[in-house]
Amino acid sequence: MDCIRGKHIVLGITGGIAAYKTATLVRLLVKAGAEVQVIMTPNAKEFITPVTLSTLSGKPVISEFFTANTGQWHSHVDLGLWADAFVVAPATASTLAKMANGVADNMLVTSYLSTRATVFAAPAMDFDMMQHPSTLRNIEQLKSYGVNIIEPAEGELASHLVGKGRMEEPEKIFDTLCDFFSRSQTMKGKTMLITAGPTREKIDPVRYISNYSTGKMGIAIAEEAAKRGAEVTLVLGPVDRRPSHAGITIIDVESANEMLAACESIFDHADIAVMCAAVADYSVANREDRKIKREKSAIPNLELVKNPDIAATLGRAKQPNQILVGFALETDNEASNAADKMERKNLDMIVMNSLRDKGAGFGTDTNKITIFTKEGDAIRYPLKSKNEVAADILDAISNIKHE
Ligand code: PMT
Repeated sequence: MDCIRGKHIVLGITGGIAAYKTATLVRLLVKAGAEVQVIMTPNAKEFITPVTLSTLSGKPVISEFFTANTGQWHSHVDLGLWADAFVVAPATASTLAKMANGVADNMLVTSYLSTRATVFAAPAMDFDMMQHPSTLRNIEQLKSYGVNIIEPAEGELASHLVGKGRMEEPEKIFDTLCDFFSRSQTMKGKTMLITAGPTREKIDPVRYISNYSTGKMGIAIAEEAAKRGAEVTLVLGPVDRRPSHAGITIIDVESANEMLAACESIFDHADIAVMCAAVADYSVANREDRKIKREKSAIPNLELVKNPDIAATLGRAKQPNQILVGFALETDNEASNAADKMERKNLDMIVMNSLRDKGAGFGTDTNKITIFTKEGDAIRYPLKSKNEVAADILDAISNIKHE
C-alpha cells in the first residue's frame, strides 16, 4: 500500500482490553511499509506484552521516560517531531481526559503534547463510560484541538453490555490513516480564501443584527484545506472558536462591508475561494452612535439597506484560472434556489444545506449537503460530521475542470 510506505507512525497504546487488537494494526502498518514506534502506558502492558509489539514493529517499545538499567532517556519531543501521524488506539477514558486537559504524567501523553503531527484517537471503553458527559466533553475538546476521533463501533463489549464503545477494527484504523496520507499535500501550492461565521450589523453600540452561524463549517473547511497543504486565509466573522491548524492566516471581521474589504484584498492571489459565511443581508442605515434609550424614545424605526453580495462581487472579478464556491442555506425549493444562486453569483459549484434536514445547518457538529455543479450534477451526501463534509467539499473542488 503506497499511501503509508515510508511514513513514521507513533502508535500509543493504553490500558484497555482492545489493546490486543493493536498487534494486528502494527502488522498491517509495517507490512504496508510504515515505520512504527509503539509507546505503551504502564496499564497497557497488562493487556498485551511489549515483546509482541516490539517483535512486530521491529523497534523496542517505549513506556517510561528512562530505561533504569542503562540510564537512557527517551525524548518525548524527538518522538513527537519524528511522527507523521500520532495514533492513540485504544484510547481509554482516562487517556482521553489527560489528552484533553494536558495531564502529562506518562510518556504517551507527554509525546502527544509535543507532537506536530496529525493526531488520531480510537476510543474504546464500556458503554456507560462512553456516554458519560465528562467523556463526551473531553472528546469534543480534543476535536476542537484538531484530533481526529475514530468513532468506536457498536456491539458486544467486554462487560457483555451491548452498545457503542468497541475500538474500531484495525483494518478500519489502517484505512483511515491511508485516506489521510493519500489526501495530504494534494493541495500543496494552492492559495485558498475561505469565509466563515456570521456578520454583525450594528444598530447602536450595544445592539446588532446577525444570525446563528458559529463558524464550525467554514473552520472545518479551512482546517482540511491546510491539512492538504493549501495556504489558507480565513476571513472570520465574530465567533468564539478558532482553527487549531497553526498554518492558517486569520482575518477577523465584524460587518459585511469589512468582510468584503478583506476578501477583495486577497481574492486576486487566491486559486480557490469558498464562501461559507452567513453574511447578513441588511445593515442599518440610521445606526445610532449612542445607546438607544428604551424609556425616552419612541420605538425606533430601523432603516435597512442591502449589504454588498460578497460572493457575487468576487464572481464578477473572477479570472478563468480561479475557482469560486458558494453555499446555499435553504428552507424550501432547495435545488432551484441553489441553482439560481450559482448562476447569479457566477460560481463554479454550490454547496446546499437545508434547515429542513435534522442535524444540518447552523451550530451543529454535523451537516447534510448536496453539491450542485455547473455541469448540472447534483451529488447528495448523507449526514456526516462537519470535518467529513469539509473533506467531501474539497474532494469535489479537486474534480472541477477549468474551461
Ligand atoms: O457556521 P455554522 O454554524 O457551522 O453553520 C454553517 C452554515 C449554515 C452557516 C453554512 O453551512 C452555510 O450554509 N453558509 C452560507 C449561509 C448563507 O448565507 O447562505 P445564503 O444562501 O444566504 O447565501 C448564498 C451564498 O452567498 C453564500 O455563499 C454566502 O456566503 C454568500 N453571500 C450571501 C449574502 C451576502 N451578502 N454576501 C455573500 O457573499
